[in-house]
Amino acid sequence: MEKAEIIKLLNEDITGEIEAILIYMRNSFVTENCPPSRKMEEVAKDEMRHTEWLAELIVDLGGTPSMEHKALNFGKEGAEGFLTRLIGLEEGAIAQYKDHIKKISDEEITKKLKHILEEEEGHLKEFKEHLEKLKK
Ligand SMILES: [Fe+2]
Ligand SMILES: [Fe+2]
Repeated sequence: MEKAEIIKLLNEDITGEIEAILIYMRNSFVTENCPPSRKMEEVAKDEMRHTEWLAELIVDLGGTPSMEHKALNFGKEGAEGFLTRLIGLEEGAIAQYKDHIKKISDEEITKKLKHILEEEEGHLKEFKEHLEKLKK
């Protein structure tokens, strides 16, 4: 795979991370229920770290982090609606990272992506647990 193509995939990953950061931060501000709100804020910071790692990989390849993001969908108002939306975002991120790990052969890059993937799987699990607790 050409460097330019790897940079394109990593920039797609950054787009997803920025979408998550903005949605998680905003939803944490308006969620009154404390444990889910804190979790959203904490995970937003993880996503910021992921953005930093991805940006470093892009710059090392000679590219520029695009820092683009999609139109924001915060989910249905209220902690349950927000958590459901966040679960969807994590599932999307997991599928995308798995796809990019398969496509990219550079081991240094896939090692980083696998580390991020593991953290996204942790986020998914935690958001699901928070949603389950709300439903009880
Ligand atoms: Fe992430
Ligand atoms: Fe995540």
